[in-house]
Amino acid sequence: MISKIQKFFMIVTCWLGGVFTCLVFFQYTSRSCSFDSIHPYPQQSYKSQINSSATRQQTSPRPEKPTTTAAPQPEKPILLLWIWPENYRFDFGDCKRFYNIDGCQLTDDRNLYDQADAVLIFHKAISWDMSNLPPSPRPPFQKWIWFHVESPTNTPRVAGIENLFNLTLSYRRDADISVRYPLTVSKAPNPEFVMPKKDKLVCWFVSNTAPHTGTGTRMKFYEEFKKYIKVDVFGMMAGNRLNEQDYYPTMASCKFYLSFENSIHRDYITEKLNGPLSVGTVPVVLGPPRQNYEEFAPGDSFIHVNDFPNASVLADYLIRLDKDEEAYRRYFDWRKHVTATPHLIERLQEFIIYICHACEYIGRHREYKAAHDIYKWYFS
Ligand SMILES: *[C@@H]1O[C@H](CO)[C@@H](O)[C@H](O)[C@H]1NC(C)=O
Ligand SMILES: *[C@@H]1O[C@H](CO)[C@@H](O)[C@H](O)[C@H]1NC(C)=O
Ligand SMILES: *[C@@H]1O[C@H](CO)[C@@H](O)[C@H](O)[C@H]1NC(C)=O
Repeated sequence: MISKIQKFFMIVTCWLGGVFTCLVFFQYTSRSCSFDSIHPYPQQSYKSQINSSATRQQTSPRPEKPTTTAAPQPEKPILLLWIWPENYRFDFGDCKRFYNIDGCQLTDDRNLYDQADAVLIFHKAISWDMSNLPPSPRPPFQKWIWFHVESPTNTPRVAGIENLFNLTLSYRRDADISVRYPLTVSKAPNPEFVMPKKDKLVCWFVSNTAPHTGTGTRMKFYEEFKKYIKVDVFGMMAGNRLNEQDYYPTMASCKFYLSFENSIHRDYITEKLNGPLSVGTVPVVLGPPRQNYEEFAPGDSFIHVNDFPNASVLADYLIRLDKDEEAYRRYFDWRKHVTATPHLIERLQEFIIYICHACEYIGRHREYKAAHDIYKWYFS
């Protein structure tokens, strides 16, 4: 027969077991809840993410957390922005606001260096003697991200940094964190395209004419091209810099826009293409070969300079399209199922998209990674 004391111990043991099970259960559920919020619907476009996540929060509130036995929240990884690129500062909340990215804790507080899961280092700011890099020793769990958005022509080759990094952040498609302005494909047809009113034929916004940045090719082409067709030039080169609020409306008022990259390199296809595509203007591109462009945009959405034997034949073609409404309109057929999204254009916003996408990446990837010989990768 069981004694009273044995009975008492059995009851206590069962009770303790129950509490333990509860604890484990709560820990598990609260973990999976917050983890979910770090991975918001990765397959959807940013706009629909904002809507669907808002709906979700309304319809399925999180379960109440137990107050006394609260399990620690899994911390979001810390991403430390070591140097502000060009000192263009912005509110880190913009990542959530513009891209619905919230997967890391972004900071510029160097006191958090020892805890930072990743450090974002802007290549152009690295001094030639490397003295402004983060201190050694580096915490063993920490990843350094090489953050560079210029083409190889405009890349200072600081010696000694080739093997310091774990991840690359660039416009290049084969970067670890590849940041581009992607066009979005939709299954349902888009609303009918309404062509913006056009009162100019060809426009070009250009400020950088410094030959050492590789602009020689496009300048030479332009000098020839303008002999055969009128080009409305805006920007520092023409001494009439556009205000930010005029950028998209002015672009939209042109039938064609010269999307001329400053230097010619693989994947170096910048916002100069995205701008006209997003407002309903036909880009005339000068950059890498057509095939490379067609990896990012439909082949019938732009005109490639290389498709013509010279500037005069291209000018004739544009003049012909100007008179042939139907042929011109065919350059917008792609819009039935594909959408280009306007990018941020304020000067201080230039690097937001890159920094936010680094944050998103760090929130999702914990695996070990080293990037060896980044120059060999970048320059060859
Ligand atoms: C998001 O939701 C709002 C209101 O519910 C709606 O007006 C808007 O068109 C939606 N946006 C997208 C991108 O679905
Ligand atoms: C441009 O190319 C066309 C066709 O090859 C040729 O007839 C024309 O003379 C060329 N124009 C110039 C300015 O080189
Ligand atoms: C980061 O890269 C460095 C340099 O290759 C390497 O020594 C280090 O182990 C890597 N760390 C992580 C966490 O990936």
